[in-house]
Amino acid sequence: MARHILITAALPYGNGPIHIGHMVEYVQADIWARYHKSCGRDCVYVCATDTHGTPIMIRAQKEGVSPEAVAARFHEEQTRDFAAFDVGFDNFYTTHSPENRALTETFFTRLRAKGHVTAREIEQTYCEKDQMFLPDRYVRGQCPKCGAEDQYGDSCEKCGSTYNPTDLKDARCAVCRSPASRRTSEHFFFRITAYEEMLRQWIGPAHLHPHVVAKLQEWFQAGLQDWDFTRDAPYWGFEIPGAAGKYFYVWFDAPIGYLASTKNWCERTGRDFDAYWVSDEAEVYHFIGKDILYFHALYWPAMLSGAGFRAPNRIWVHGFLTVDGVKMSKARGTFINAATYLKHLDPQYLRYYYACKLGPDVADIDLSMQDFVARVNSDLVGSFANLPSRSAGLLKKLENRLGRMDDAGRALVAGIEAGAAEIGRAYEACEYATAMRLAMSHADTLNRYFDNEKPWEKMKTDPERARVALTTTLNGVRLLAAYLGPVLPRYAEKVGRLLGVPTPDFQNLGERVEDRTIGAYERIAERLLPEALAAVVEATREEQAAGV
Ligand code: 2FM
Ligand code: ZN
Repeated sequence: MARHILITAALPYGNGPIHIGHMVEYVQADIWARYHKSCGRDCVYVCATDTHGTPIMIRAQKEGVSPEAVAARFHEEQTRDFAAFDVGFDNFYTTHSPENRALTETFFTRLRAKGHVTAREIEQTYCEKDQMFLPDRYVRGQCPKCGAEDQYGDSCEKCGSTYNPTDLKDARCAVCRSPASRRTSEHFFFRITAYEEMLRQWIGPAHLHPHVVAKLQEWFQAGLQDWDFTRDAPYWGFEIPGAAGKYFYVWFDAPIGYLASTKNWCERTGRDFDAYWVSDEAEVYHFIGKDILYFHALYWPAMLSGAGFRAPNRIWVHGFLTVDGVKMSKARGTFINAATYLKHLDPQYLRYYYACKLGPDVADIDLSMQDFVARVNSDLVGSFANLPSRSAGLLKKLENRLGRMDDAGRALVAGIEAGAAEIGRAYEACEYATAMRLAMSHADTLNRYFDNEKPWEKMKTDPERARVALTTTLNGVRLLAAYLGPVLPRYAEKVGRLLGVPTPDFQNLGERVEDRTIGAYERIAERLLPEALAAVVEATREEQAAGV
C-alpha cells in the first residue's frame, strides 16, 4: 500500500535567528523527508514560526513595534536561512494564523466538553508597575536555598535547586526591576491524569527510542501534574472564547500549529486534512530535541486523543549540539547563526557532517572543528567529488562522449546498486551515520577501480579502454549521488545535470548512462579551508561584541 507521510520539526520561536544548533533538527528531519521523497513516497514536511508568548511581547514593547511585526521579521529571516540550508519544507507557516486559532479553539472546546478542563484559582507573581503576571523567567530574586542574588524564578544557576517564583526572596520584575507582588487569578488546567491509561499504552518502543521510553517512564512514575494552559492579559496569543482577558499559553497553541500548517498546506494543494490528523491513513512523525520531550510525549498525545485527533506514529528525539565538546558559546564564537555560517561556508558541508554524526538516539552530537574540516575534505571532496571531477575532465578529451561499460564495469556498478537496500534501511531508521559510512564504502570501491584502471594513462595508449573506465566510474558516481542525495541534494542535482539525466534518486537506481554526450562539469565541492571556518568563528565573536 502506498505510504503517505507527514513530517514535522519543532516550531522555532519568532524572536530570534536560526543557529547551527537548531539546524541539527531541521536537517535531520529534512534528510528523512528527502529520503522518502527520493523513494517516490507521498511525503510532506511542515513547520511554522512559533509566534506567541511573553518574550515576543516584551521584545515588541522594547522595539516599539507590534508582536506581529517581530514574529513576521524573524519568520522571513528563518524562511531565508532554511532555504539556504536546503531545508525543504513543503509548508513553513505561522502559529498566528486563522487555521491555528480555529483549531486551538476546537481543542479547547472538545477537551472541556469531555470534562478534561478544570478551572482553579492560583496565586502568581505579579508586577504592579507593568500590570502583568510574571512568567518564571521574568522574576529575579534571591535563591531560597543558597541565597545567591539575581536568580530566575524557577531555578538557581548557582546551586541548581528548582523552586516556584513565589519562593524567591526579594523577588523583582526582570523587566522594570520593581518589587514583585502576588495576585490570584483563575486558570484553566488540562486534566492529564484522565489520560494515564492511554499514555501508559502509548509510551513504548513502537513510538519512541528505548532510552526515551525509560526517561518518560521515570516521569510517569513520578506522577503526572495537571497543566495550566492559560495566561492573563496582557499576553500575546489567542484569547480564549468566553473568557475575556484570558489567553491560551503559547505551549498550548504551538503544537496545534503542526495541524494548522498541515491544514494550510492541504488547502493550498487540495489534499485531505483528515487523512493526516483524523484517520490513520497517513503516518505522522515529529522530530524534536530532548528539551521538549516531556511536552511532546506526554501532554501532546493526550491533547490529541482528547480532542479527537490521532497520535503520531513516532517521535524522533535528538540531543543537543556541542562544539569541540562543550556547549555552544557566544564568547567562544561557537554560537553560530545560520546566516553567519552561510557567508563563509557551503551549507552542504554541515548537512554532511551532521548526517555522519546522527543516529536515532538522544545522544548529544559534537561538532569538532578539526574533524569537520578533515571529514569534508577526505569524504566529500577526496572520495566523492573528485571522481566526477576527474572523470569529466578526462572525458572532455574524448569528445565528452560516454561509451559502454564492459562486464567487469557492469558488475561493479551492480554491486554498488545492491547496497541500496541496506542504505535505505539505515535512512528509514534514522541511522544516518550508518548510511553515510555505507555510501562512503561504495565510494572507496569506486575509487579503487578508478585508480586501478588509470584512465589518465590509458587515454594516451588505449583511449577506448579509458572511455569504458570513465563510463563505469560515472555510472557509479550516479549511484553514489542517489545515496547521498537526501543529505546533499545540490550535489545530486549537479551529477544529474552533468550526465544529462534526471536527478539520481532511490527510484532510478537501475538506470545506466551509456553512449551519450555529457554536459559541462560544474564543480561539486570545494575543499573546506580552515581559514574559512576560523572566519565564521571570528564573525560570530564580533557579532557578540557588537551585541547583535
Ligand atoms: O522550544 C521551542 O523552540 C518551541 N518553540 C518549540 C515548539 S514545538 C511545538 F510544540 F510547536
Ligand atoms: Zn515590571
